[in-house]
Amino acid sequence: MDRLKEATADLHAKAEGHPFQTSLVRGTVATDDYARWLGQMLLIHAALEGRLAELRSQKPDLAPVIRDDLFQADRLRADLAHHGMPADAVKPLPATVEFVGWIDRTAQERPLALLGANYVLEGSKNGNRFIAKALMRRGGEAPPTNAGFQYLDPHGEAQRPMWQEYRQVMNGMPIAAEDAAAMEAAARLTFSAVTKLSDDLVGSNAPAE
Ligand code: HEM
Repeated sequence: MDRLKEATADLHAKAEGHPFQTSLVRGTVATDDYARWLGQMLLIHAALEGRLAELRSQKPDLAPVIRDDLFQADRLRADLAHHGMPADAVKPLPATVEFVGWIDRTAQERPLALLGANYVLEGSKNGNRFIAKALMRRGGEAPPTNAGFQYLDPHGEAQRPMWQEYRQVMNGMPIAAEDAAAMEAAARLTFSAVTKLSDDLVGSNAPAE
């Protein structure tokens, strides 16, 4: 896990500084744009979690890291419903099409690499809690009501211990050197995909010329 963190530190810094991400953490994002982002994350989580569940059925040893209670697709559907966006109507932006294509290919070619993608999305729950707080403050919805923000803050006060547990279990997995290298590359690719998605979300907001 330290290796994954170090290998992606530069990309985390870049992602954090993206105008779309800063609009989230400052609580200035328009509600429609927040919902559009959730819709894209739903397509990504649904694809990844479906593939991870397949992998777990082939390799039951992975059950401690591939856990249904960590999956986010259902929470994203609930958040979208709360914000009045039908989940079935979400159309993928180009970055999402590209990333979901990569997930599907990787599931065939080297499925363990998907744990590197999962690391990034699981780890992002740490920062997402701050975003949830900013957005909930804005909406005047005081905790513990997290309706509409379940994706950003799925575990509440349990986030830190759950993350520590996830790290411990991942560190204890016997992973072959070539799979570890593939996980590292997958983690980097996932950060790039999320950054490209942020570009798409900002870009498609630009007024037509
Ligand atoms: C406004 C944007 C963001 C903020 C403020 C933020 C903030 C944070 C914070 C405070 C942590 C916990 C650091 C620690 O306790 O060691 C963290 C961890 C992490 N974040 Fe972010 N983050 C942001 C965006 C993102 C994005 C877009 C992703 C990728 C989808 C991401 C992925 C991660 C990962 C993988 C970790 C775990 C690092 C590790 O300990 O291995 N973050 N982030």
